[in-house]
Formats: sequence, C-alpha cells, structure tokens
Amino acid sequence: MKRVRFIFSIATLLPFVAGAQARPLYKDKNAPIEKRIDDLLKRMTLEEKILQTNQWTYGKNANINNIEASKKAVRPEIGSLIYRSTNPVFRNDIMRKAMEESRLGIPILMGFDVIHGYRTIFPIPLAQACSWNPSLVRQACAIAAKESKLSGVDWTFSPMVDVARDARWGRVAEGYGEDPYTNAIFAVAAVKGYQGEKLSDPYSIAACLKHYIGYSLSEGGRDYHYADVSPQTLWETFIPPYQAGVEAGAATLMSAFNDISGIPASANHYTLTEILKQRWKHNGFVVSDWGSIDNLIAQGYAADRKDAALKSFTAGVEMDMVDNVYVENLQQLIKENKISMDKLDDAVRRILRVKFMLGLFDKPYVEELPEKDRYYQPKGLAVAAKLAEESMVLLKNNNHTLPLSSAIKHIALVGPMVKDSVNLMGSWEGQGTPESVETLYEGFEKEFKNKVVLHYAKGCDFDGTDQSGFSEAIAAAQQSDVIIVCIGEMKKWSGENASRSTIALPSIQEQLVSALKKTGKPIALVLSNGRPVELGSLDSLSDAILEIWQPGIAGGSPLAGIVSGRLNPSGKLAITFPLSTGQIPTYYNMRQSARPKLGGYQDIATEPKYWFGHGLSYTTFSYAPARLSDTVLRKNKQLVAEVEVTNTGTVDGKETALWYIADPVASVTRPMKELKYFEKQDLKAGEKKVFRFVIDPVRDLSFPDANGFRHLESGDFYILINDQKLKFRLID
Ligand code: NOJ
Repeated sequence: MKRVRFIFSIATLLPFVAGAQARPLYKDKNAPIEKRIDDLLKRMTLEEKILQTNQWTYGKNANINNIEASKKAVRPEIGSLIYRSTNPVFRNDIMRKAMEESRLGIPILMGFDVIHGYRTIFPIPLAQACSWNPSLVRQACAIAAKESKLSGVDWTFSPMVDVARDARWGRVAEGYGEDPYTNAIFAVAAVKGYQGEKLSDPYSIAACLKHYIGYSLSEGGRDYHYADVSPQTLWETFIPPYQAGVEAGAATLMSAFNDISGIPASANHYTLTEILKQRWKHNGFVVSDWGSIDNLIAQGYAADRKDAALKSFTAGVEMDMVDNVYVENLQQLIKENKISMDKLDDAVRRILRVKFMLGLFDKPYVEELPEKDRYYQPKGLAVAAKLAEESMVLLKNNNHTLPLSSAIKHIALVGPMVKDSVNLMGSWEGQGTPESVETLYEGFEKEFKNKVVLHYAKGCDFDGTDQSGFSEAIAAAQQSDVIIVCIGEMKKWSGENASRSTIALPSIQEQLVSALKKTGKPIALVLSNGRPVELGSLDSLSDAILEIWQPGIAGGSPLAGIVSGRLNPSGKLAITFPLSTGQIPTYYNMRQSARPKLGGYQDIATEPKYWFGHGLSYTTFSYAPARLSDTVLRKNKQLVAEVEVTNTGTVDGKETALWYIADPVASVTRPMKELKYFEKQDLKAGEKKVFRFVIDPVRDLSFPDANGFRHLESGDFYILINDQKLKFRLID
C-alpha cells in the first residue's frame, strides 16, 4: 500500500516536471464532463468497461432478503458497491484502492438503501405522503443525504414511486400511496432533497427511482409475482411518478423484479429504452434489482445466465446488482457480435456520467467526522418530529375524545406498541438503531410530566393467543379516565417480501381492545402500521382513532402532543382504508361502473372505511363557494379556481385543499375524479385564506392513450374541491 501511495504522489508531480506527459483529460476537473468521458472510454480496456457495469455488496449484511456470500476482496475496478458500513474511514480505504491501485483510478459508486432516513429515521414514505407537505419531505431527504454522504454513501436506492393499491403487498409502506399525482409530487421532492441543487454539492447523493415498473401490481399482493398491466394503466397510473422523477433529474432508476404482462421489467426494451432513454432522454443509468437479471431464468424469459445477460443488457439495464452475469458473459457476447461495442460504451458512459456528476473523480474521499457530528443533528431531529406530526391522521374522534380534557388526571397507556422501540422505525430503517427511538411512552412522560399519572400495561404481544396480560391492562384502565391503546404491526410485517393475506390485525389485539371496552372508559386507539389495516370491530370499539403509521425515531412527542392538544393533527390519508381485505383493490380514482347503482358486494358494504383524503382536525374549516375565473376555457389559456377557507374553530390548524378534475366523457374513459393539485396552509383560529389552483389545460386536462401520447379533448369538465363541483367547458 505504501509503495503504491509513493508512486501515486510522484505521478501527481509529473505535470510540473519539464517535458512530463500532461495530465489525462478525464482527470481535468475543468474539462466538460462529456469530453472527460470520451477521453476515459478511449483508455479503458474491454474488461475495465465491463467491470463498471458490475455491482457487489460489501460490509455487514443486515438484510434478510439480500443474502450474498461475503467478499474477501473488492476488485478496485468495480463499478459500484452496496456499502453497508457506516464508517467513512472504511469507505475511504476502499475508495483509495480504486483510485490508487486500479490502472485508471475510477472511483467506485457506493450505494445503500436510504429509504426514510440514514440514522435519523423519518416516518415511512407512506406516512410522509399523508403529511401533504413535500417541502418537509424534501428537507428530510436532504438530511438523509448528508448523513449518508458523511458515512460514505453516494447513492440511495430511493425513492420508491410505485403507485400501490393493494395493501396486502408489504411494500405499500415504501411508496407514497395510491394516487399517481401524489407519488409524482413526492418523487420530485425526494429527488430534489437527495440530489440538492446539483449532484456535485458536498452533501448530495444520487437518487434512484424504483422499481421500474409495475411492481406494485404483483398478483394477490404476493411480492415478486407476475403483474398484468395494460398499456393504458401503465401510462396513466404507473408512469407519471417516474416521468416526474426523471424530469426532476433523478440520476438512476432500478428495474423491477416483476414480469410485466409477459416481458419482465428487467428485460423490457419498451419501458427501459423506448420510453426512458428515447422518449424521456434520461442520461443516467438503470441498475437491476437484486438478482433480477438472473431471475429472468426463473421467470421463463431466459434460458441461462448468458441469455439473461443478453436480454437485460440489450433491453437497457446498464448495471448488474450482485448477479455477476454481466462480468461473466458480456465479453463473450461482444465477441459473438450479439452486443455491440457501441452499446457497451453507451452503458459505461452512463455510469461514468453519474460518477462525474457526483464529483467523485475530483473528490473521491469523504470527510471523516466522529459520529456525533454526523447524526441526530438538531435540525434533523426537528424535521423528523415535524414530519411525524404532520403525517399522523385522525381517522375518527367521537364526542371530542381527543384532545384529552385538562380534567383528566389518569391515563392508561396500553398495548404492545407503547414501549416499543424497534417496530416504530418501520421496514428499511437504514442504519437506524432502536436506542435512538423515542418510544410513545417517553413522549407521554415528557408531555404530561407532573400533570397526569400514567398507568402502563402491555396487555398482549402483537400476535399469538396469550391473554395473560389482559387483567393488568384492565386494572390500568380502571384506575384511569381514558385508555390510549397503542397497537399495530411489527415492522417485519411490511416492506419487502412481507405480503399478508389479510390486512386485519391479529385477533389478539382486537380481543385486548374488546376487553378494555368493558371497563366503560373512553378508548383512543393509536395505530402504528406500514399499510392501511382492516379495522373490523376496532372501529366501533374505539371513540377516537389516530393513525401514526411507523413514525421513525421521533414519534413519541408528536403523538403525545396531539393527544394533549398542544398539536393539532393535519394528516390526510394518501391511501384508502378498505372496509375489509376482500374490497381490495379499492381506491378513489376508479372508473365509473357500467351500472353505477348495481354490482356492489352482497355480504358487506361496498364503500371503503376511510377514503383517500380523509383526515380530521381539532378545528373546523369551512369552504366558501369556489370561484372560477371563467366557465369557458380555450385550450391555450389558463383558468384560475379559488376558494376561501375559514378556520371556524377555536384552535389554530392546517388545512390541505385537494383539487380534483373530472372529465365525464372522453375518447378513453377517465377515472371519476383525479387529483391534480394540492396545497397545505396554516390557518389561525378565525383566519381566512384563499387556496388557488391554476389550471393548465395541457397539464391538467389531457390524458394519455395506451401508447403514451396525450390528448386534449374539448367538452365539459368539473373541478371538485371539498364537497363542491364546478362545471366549465374547454373549447378549441
Ligand atoms: C431488493 C429491493 O427490492 C430493492 O428495493 C433494494 O433497493 C435492493 N434489494 C437493494 O437492497
């Protein structure tokens, strides 16, 4: 190692020695990136190029779905590593190998799953969407990026922007809910948060839109399964968040595991090349998902690993995540003229481009700061708490059960989630640690200190049949004025490879609430889960229900603040709560049925329990009649819709106005309504504010056909806001 460093330092002096060879162009940080890539590509051997398309994993493996034999040594020419350590010194050591021991000194791209925070764990993405606050999400992603970068990570496999409508699929937790527009807005917020103003900023990391595409349609909610997606649905539901993320500058995408109607996503030329590279001109690269190239064999699309490499690579997957199929086969495939050198150069160019844009060639090493200067900085903790607060959704609040009256002096805190510090983080908790989690109990202690006596009982586990804790829970309830029951899902019940046949909670939890109900005390149910749940009798057993999702490390105080009334809940659902699992899929932007009044279920109600957009506040908002700047709109003009909203209650609050468009007759049938804009504003008690939506016909009134071409058709449209529906006409 020492000898190499010596040679390296002499080499850096060479340009100053008379007659010495000039520094190669690709090392000149003032040269244009494309010229640097041209220069570097000319110098690379075939083997060096192929190694750039290869990604390994390195460091401690804590992911049960991604098991790979540990590597003894890393080839310094490798394109990328999934970097699992938190130690910047370790990263710099590996990077030094690449920079000093490889012939050309090409930096390694270090990737990691930073899904909702690195160490400072924020609420799960599904919860984040319920905040309707993209600016907070952007800040959270920027904080996650900084913590990641300072630990040696340059690239996150996030955001997941798969519109998800089947809550049995565990990965609904990882995305922004059921609506394409909402996913698109949060995709942009996340990309901008991670990537900053520019990728070369000191604390920017590259984003990765995943899982391209159709993954959330896995049949029956079973992970990794076949997904049947019609071209129409692909374009109108699944593509918009990806397109928005690409337009926001996302450097990379990850190809999905699923088979899309016969052509697997990781070998799909239409989605990977025709749409992404040719139509959208994306100039970054696509990485496969873990093993998804080799999986083409299991899916019946490739005969063997060589065939899989050929199909994935030619379809447009540039980097192979841990499969090693590219390193094993590309050389031979090029020799056989099955893959051209131009195609390989294009793939390598894309990978190098992201590395150049990140500034890795010029600044390959990261600062080596102690942990205390990297994590849990005050700003990060404040954003984590704020996002947790704004993502909590008050689903029900009979008789003003919440906030608790100041007359209450004894609170029973019951349930397996009360003192939990593991499950509150949710799945994909990055490098989060249970020790950093503020439990719900700790939040209550801080909030109610010296004011209220807390009576705690666990009551039961998340699952199983053991009712032995019920009597202690009942005793705690009997001593109290109100019962706060904190139940929900373990973190491993959602996320990857975590499908469930029912979205109901295990019956032991329902039995606990039922036993508590017999005390006659009011019950406020606090739910922490990674998906919408089937509430069953929990709904009628509870006087109030607050959905806190998996709030991350700072959920205790926001929850307690909402319970005490110090904070006013402002979250609204970004995903519908079905009445029962059998209603799945149910989502707000459905199409009208042929017989609108018929065809419902015979055994249960057809309406879901809580619709997308539902969420209560401690105050009331009244919407004045909305106004349109005109009732006739030309296609090349804009229309302004405005509504004045008054906080008619006695406490300050936040209101999110959700603006929908309905297009009752079109050449391709349209959903009954589609969200086109939202805005969240603070309103003090008694205050009035105007919410405004400027309608751009091409953006808001057009729709795609099955080939992705947009159509803008004249005719009648409606704007829907709150419970109002206003008609206008679009003319040529
Ligand atoms: C598989 C998951 O599907 C994907 O989301 C993740 O980024 C990779 N593994 C890497 O951990």
